[in-house]
Order: sequence, then C-alpha cells, then structure tokens
Amino acid sequence: MKAAAVFRNSQENLLQVPLCTRSYNAESSLEKDTSTADLNASERFRSHGMLAPFTAGWQTTDLNPLVIDKSEGSYVYDINGKKYLDSLAGLWCTALEMMASFTHVLIFSMKVSLDARVGLPVSDQEITKFMETYSPLVGGGNEPRLVEAAITQLKKLPFYHSFWNRTTKPSLDLAKDLLETFTARKMAKAFFVNSGSEANDSQVKLVWYYNNALGRPNKKKFIARAKSYHGSTLIAASLSGLPALHQKFDLPAPFVLHTDCPHYWRYHLPGETEEEFSTRLANNLEELILKEGPDTIAAFIAEPVMGAGGVITPPSTYFEKIQAVVKKYDILFIADEYVLAIKYDIMIISDLHRERNILDKVRKISPKFQDGIKAFSDSPIIGEIRGTGLILGTEFTDNKSPNDPFPPEWGNLHVATNCIFPYFNNDISLHGIGAYFGAQCEKRGMLVRVAGDNIMMCPPFIISPEEIDELISIYGKALKATEERVNELKSQKK
Ligand SMILES: Cc1ncc(COP(=O)(O)O)c(C=O)c1O
Repeated sequence: MKAAAVFRNSQENLLQVPLCTRSYNAESSLEKDTSTADLNASERFRSHGMLAPFTAGWQTTDLNPLVIDKSEGSYVYDINGKKYLDSLAGLWCTALEMMASFTHVLIFSMKVSLDARVGLPVSDQEITKFMETYSPLVGGGNEPRLVEAAITQLKKLPFYHSFWNRTTKPSLDLAKDLLETFTARKMAKAFFVNSGSEANDSQVKLVWYYNNALGRPNKKKFIARAKSYHGSTLIAASLSGLPALHQKFDLPAPFVLHTDCPHYWRYHLPGETEEEFSTRLANNLEELILKEGPDTIAAFIAEPVMGAGGVITPPSTYFEKIQAVVKKYDILFIADEYVLAIKYDIMIISDLHRERNILDKVRKISPKFQDGIKAFSDSPIIGEIRGTGLILGTEFTDNKSPNDPFPPEWGNLHVATNCIFPYFNNDISLHGIGAYFGAQCEKRGMLVRVAGDNIMMCPPFIISPEEIDELISIYGKALKATEERVNELKSQKK
C-alpha cells in the first residue's frame, strides 16, 4: 500500500527530484537498530510545510526529513541526537575545498573582472593571504570565533542595507580587504550577494550592463558547459548544464548555450590523449561561437573543478586552450568558484580574527584523504574516483566502463522488495546506485552528496587525521554493502 501511495504521488508531482538517501532512511527507520525515540522524532516532521530546492513536494509529504539540529567541528547531529561526519561540509560551503585549483579561483562577488577580458586573475600568494585572513570560515560547524563575532555584530547592528550609497563599516572593510588581497589583476569593486545563485544572476546583469555600456547590445549570450552547476535560481539554473534543472521549468533561458563537459574518462575517443581531447573541446567551442556569431556571445562561464556534476577536474591543457578561444572573440571568461564563496554575513566576516597555517594543515591532510579513498579504485563497482585536495567524487559503473551504468532503478530500495518505484525521467540525477551508497553512509553516521551514479565529498578544512580515518572506514563499509547489493541484484537478474 505504501509503495503504491508513493507511486501515485510521485507521478502527480511536477517537481520530481532525486529519490536519494532519505527514502532509504524512511525504510531504515523500520530496521531493528533504530530506536522508538528516533521513529517518533522523525515522524513529527513528516508532511512538513517547507519546500526547498532539490526536494520534491512528495518527498516532503511521504518521507521523514533529515532534521539537522546542531554542529560540532566536522560533525552534525540530527534531531534524534544521531551524529554524522559531514563529509560534504554543508553544501561545499563550510570549507574551502579544491586546493589544487586555487590558481583558478575568483570569489563570487568579484568574479567579473570588467577590465580583464580573459584570465583568472588570482595567484597562489593571493589565495594564501585570503585564507590566512578568512580561515575561521573554514571551521566546519560551530566555530567559536564565528559565533562570538556574530553575537557582537548582532548586538550592535543586526542589519542595514546598501542601497543609495548607504552601507556599513564592516562591508566597506571587507571590500577593501578583498581588493587589497587580490591584486594580480586590479579589481575595481566587490559586489556582495547572499548566495552563489544570486552571484551568478548578478554576473549576467553586470555583463549585459557592460556590453550595453560599450555599445554592443547584441553581445549577450552566455556559454556554459554540460554537467556544470551554477545554482538554482532561474538564470543560475539556466547556466547549469544538468537537465533535471531545466526539465519542467521551461529552462534554459534562450540566451544560454551549452558546450562540452570536459570529462576525459567519460568522453574521450579511443586513443585520444588528454591534450588532444582538450584541443577537440576547444575546437568545438570555437565552432559554436562562429555558428552563433562572435558578436552575440558575451561570456563563457566555468567551474574550475566541476563540483555538483560529479567532481570533474579539467584535463591537461583544457583551460589554456579554452581561454585562447574566448580571448580571440572578445568573450569574458567567468570562473564560478564556489570554493571561496562567502556565504556568511559580511558583518560577521569582518570581525573575525586571523589564523595562520590553515593552508599548510590542508596540504598535509589532503594526501591522506585522496590516497585513502582512491585505494578503493579497484572495486568492481567503481568506474572512477577523481578529485584533488579535499574534494573527491566517486562514479559507480559496471565493468570499469563509463558506458556500463548500473540499471538506474538499482539505486532504489523498492527494487529489492519487488515494488517498482517510478523513474520516468531519464536524467542522471534522478536515479542510480549512488543513492544506495549514500544511504549506507548515512546509516553508519556520515553524510555524502548523492547524484545518480556519483557521490561527492569535500570535508571541512579542520578535519583531523582521525576523522579522515573514520571517513575512509565508513566509505569502505558502505562500499562493501553496495558491492553486496549489486551482486545480489545481478544474481536476481540472471
Ligand atoms: C559552482 C557553484 N555555483 C553556484 C552554486 C550555487 O550556490 P548557492 O547554493 O549558494 O545558491 C553552487 C552550489 O553548490 C556551486 O557549486
């Protein structure tokens, strides 16, 4: 009966989104190891009144939400008191991940460098300086200095706006600090926003304004990449290259074009080297620009390391070749680097103390994380483990091949009980064995990001060597359980 009800609701619902780990939790709450108290606490919030991105209406009605109650260092606790190692650092945002890509970093609020048509105007030294200044932000959850600064500022001035040249001193101090930190190319101003999505929407406005000011009213189109993620608002979702963000929302907006995803493992031709692959993608980009007309293309936007699309690091020579193309046609290059996104109130940031050595700490701990997880690469259900610094993605496939995905419904618990859960949408983010793996992690006290056949992790900078050991251990156990599950489903299929 229950499965039938879910079936009906999900068909009716227009917002079909991933049936991810929560569905397993709804099931696992029936398992023996879950106490009655847990059941009651979860049940209390079933059918709650909140609608949020990446959560279908039917999920909010039919499943128990995971209600996070408090945080402590690298951990969060749910409403039942269950502790989880937060291997995604919130939503990539309570850590400054992707260490190795720092030379590509721009801060959201400064991403459009109007006087620098091309280039990623951030140096290693600038990143170090920035991190030394704002490293308290990387403290995972519940960083005492952040709390203290917030309380001080909240008592003094909880809010004031920045319209009509009215502003606050902390805002001005932060803008000054940012401009003094990032000097490889002169940045004129910092523009503060509340989220990554808002930042990207603002970028489009700025770029359009810029081209209008230069008397180029036709130069307005944006080129983004397949599998990119730039946010959830109308424009940011349009820029994103994930079909689930477009379908049923009448997106992408007509001024957005998409070019190739630079995932070498998945898309390279037989015998093609990484360099040749990059050349082919740069040529494809140029063809697209010429087809559309260079005088209609305003900007190219890219994540230096693709995050939500599955942690995809750029192949060798990719950005050099892409930048040469956009430069040739006077097209702005925008690096969407969520890594350094400032998601906190600027008043809070500006009161924070400085802390040294965070970069060193991360450099030291990253190999343990990378090597520990990559040691599982031989698993028969893993196609590729990829990443850099403190960010890693795992892609599950059969036969080690990008072309042999597991049946999408294998990510669904109901398959095992012979109740077919409907996935009518063939987008990658709506199904996949990653959901099973994610549920196994969650059961063992760790949160990962799930997207179809991919799972992603980027622990906070403050993660300790012992916590990395714990992360690797839970990953290993969840992987083993997922392997067993795949074997079981394979034998049922025979
Ligand atoms: C590269 C990138 N851009 C933009 C966003 C959107 O940020 P927000 O969720 O703060 O709107 C994200 C979020 O994960 C992101 O990874």
